[in-house]
Amino acid sequence: MHRMPSPTLSSSPAPAPALRRAATTWFVVASLGQWAFVLFILGFYGRHVLSGDLGGLNAKPHITGYVPGDALGNLQWLGHVFLGGAATFAGIVQLLPAVRRRWPAIHRWTGRVFLIAALVATFSGFYLTWIRGSQLNLASAVSTSLNGLLILVFCVLAWRSARLRDIPRHRQHALRAYLLVNGVWFLRIGIVPAGAVMNALGHRLDYDSAVFLGISYLSWIAPLACLELYLAAERSPRVGLQRGVALLFHLLAILTAIGVAGAAMFMWWPVL
Ligand code: HEM
Repeated sequence: MHRMPSPTLSSSPAPAPALRRAATTWFVVASLGQWAFVLFILGFYGRHVLSGDLGGLNAKPHITGYVPGDALGNLQWLGHVFLGGAATFAGIVQLLPAVRRRWPAIHRWTGRVFLIAALVATFSGFYLTWIRGSQLNLASAVSTSLNGLLILVFCVLAWRSARLRDIPRHRQHALRAYLLVNGVWFLRIGIVPAGAVMNALGHRLDYDSAVFLGISYLSWIAPLACLELYLAAERSPRVGLQRGVALLFHLLAILTAIGVAGAAMFMWWPVL
């Protein structure tokens, strides 16, 4: 049987210890935040769906949300949310070196779950945005759709390089796919602190504002750029570059912790 190799931040080429430690620190913080997002999906969406209280899903704000009578739209929406949650969950598991080493079969299955859930969630995201019309505005709909297109590209590339057993390339594409699938999570951990700063300055974070649109595009561009920097530092013999990128990842871990705390306290916990 084909074995799906691991897309971990710590496989070959062996990164400098400082670089590896910094990436691990960021991943530990990020994965705790992604667990919190998955728990929100299960606790809020799962609870209402299991109790049959679909109207109760509109207790929190959505772009469109539950619409009585729109069976297809509601199905696409709920399928999107649960498959998105499954892809987020599987993405975390794929990056855990201990799971890969001790339970390779689980690792292979979560790889498949990740790819299928990410692909189907992306297609249902396109449906919600462009057919159901769930858009905050055109610019943010384009941003999410570009994120979605890149998810499709890197999932296919990750799958193809795994089939060809091109492990170094597979690892890079799978890491890109993991970060892109988490674009929706990066957006949420970005807008809560940004909203707090805007409030402190006496403004509201408007969905049409440059700040919101900037965060929307950065939610998938910035993680990809940071990964490319990490991969370049890993390949480079320059100790200065490795130290600089290690420092950057420690700073990102702190920013991620602030964003996760904000999103968990003000967005996810209150509706559970
Ligand atoms: C595969 C990665 C993705 C994941 C994990 C994901 C996850 C989610 C989750 C959990 C929600 C509900 C959020 C909440 O209640 O706070 C959501 C909503 C939404 N997603 Fe995604 N999503 C992904 C990709 C996409 C893409 C690529 C698009 C568009 C092309 C998209 C369009 C939407 C829309 C329009 C909504 C809001 C629906 C509404 O409020 O009525 N998603 N997504």
